[in-house]
Amino acid sequence: MAINTENVSVEISKTSKIDSVDFSNLNFGREFTDHMFVCDFVDGEWQTPKVMPYQAMSYEPSARVFHYGQAVFEGMKAYKDDNGKVFLFRPKQNFDRINKSAQRLAMPAFPENYFFEGLETLLKLDNEWIKPGMGNSLYLRPFIIATEPAISASPANTYRFMIICSPAKAYYNAPVRVLVAEEYSRSADGGVGFAKAAGNYAAQFYPTSLAQEKGFQQVIWTDASTHTYLEEAGTMNVFFRINDTLITAPTSDRILDGVTRKSIVQLAEDLGIKCEVRKIKVDEIKTAAKDGSLKEIFGAGTAAVISPISAFEHKNELFDIPVSEDSYAKLFKQTLLNIQHNVSEDKHGWRYEV
Ligand code: COI
Repeated sequence: MAINTENVSVEISKTSKIDSVDFSNLNFGREFTDHMFVCDFVDGEWQTPKVMPYQAMSYEPSARVFHYGQAVFEGMKAYKDDNGKVFLFRPKQNFDRINKSAQRLAMPAFPENYFFEGLETLLKLDNEWIKPGMGNSLYLRPFIIATEPAISASPANTYRFMIICSPAKAYYNAPVRVLVAEEYSRSADGGVGFAKAAGNYAAQFYPTSLAQEKGFQQVIWTDASTHTYLEEAGTMNVFFRINDTLITAPTSDRILDGVTRKSIVQLAEDLGIKCEVRKIKVDEIKTAAKDGSLKEIFGAGTAAVISPISAFEHKNELFDIPVSEDSYAKLFKQTLLNIQHNVSEDKHGWRYEV
């Protein structure tokens, strides 16, 4: 698709960092491409967006984002097929979600044409950073921050929307061990758990670091009021397989409406796999682990793709889950990657060619 830069001003970087990057050995989110997209909200309007060389930016120490965490973000990926065609995966979902997140944090909605023109302009300029091959991708991080220099506790009048891009493989490169939350909570009814609000992630760091000290990489969050029901893992939604049935928690104002999650629910239907979207008690999973009917648990997210979970602990009881070769996790991951990399039919129209 020819890019329409009608609304976007472009400044091309004079140099490229690409030769300094070891694409076979990427740490998630450490390397950034040569360009970024920037658009400011001033005087009640989004101004002319710019694509410019990736660079540090300065803000006043009083910028509201630093004090009140008025910040939302998205995670998306671009993929390249073996013929050099570039695709996004269901990008309209991310566009809609960032604006839902923004609304919850009293931030202005970002215009759809700027979002897509920004993405397309960036991906054209940084095309070489998108490597073909299964498992390779360019992770895209759109975000909005409150830039107004003022520290009264109220929404800002100025904002910056940006997109930065980082070459990525899967977030976890080995099966993940998780701790089921008993004390801390990620989100509450009427709160911001459904939004990709920056603070949702910061608030997980401390309990997750306690879990890490015990040998777990992630926490599976439970409902805040009773810690009875399994919800999500923070970096990913979670699926449980009991015998041949897949179960995942319904989305709510506490749970992120993950694009990978909803794609798996659809793919399960396509593949004839029974998938129940319902509340799941921690006790149900423990009973299933004890009687052998719990076959697998896996996480699903844009960064994580599909990550098998090899063990979980709850109330000091540890359950190992054998990771089988004919797992659903493997089947869904391959099915999804085949669609994302333009290897298989795209019957739901999820690919968006750039
Ligand atoms: C994503 O999967 O895109 C996320 O936003 C998770 C992030 C914490 C890496």
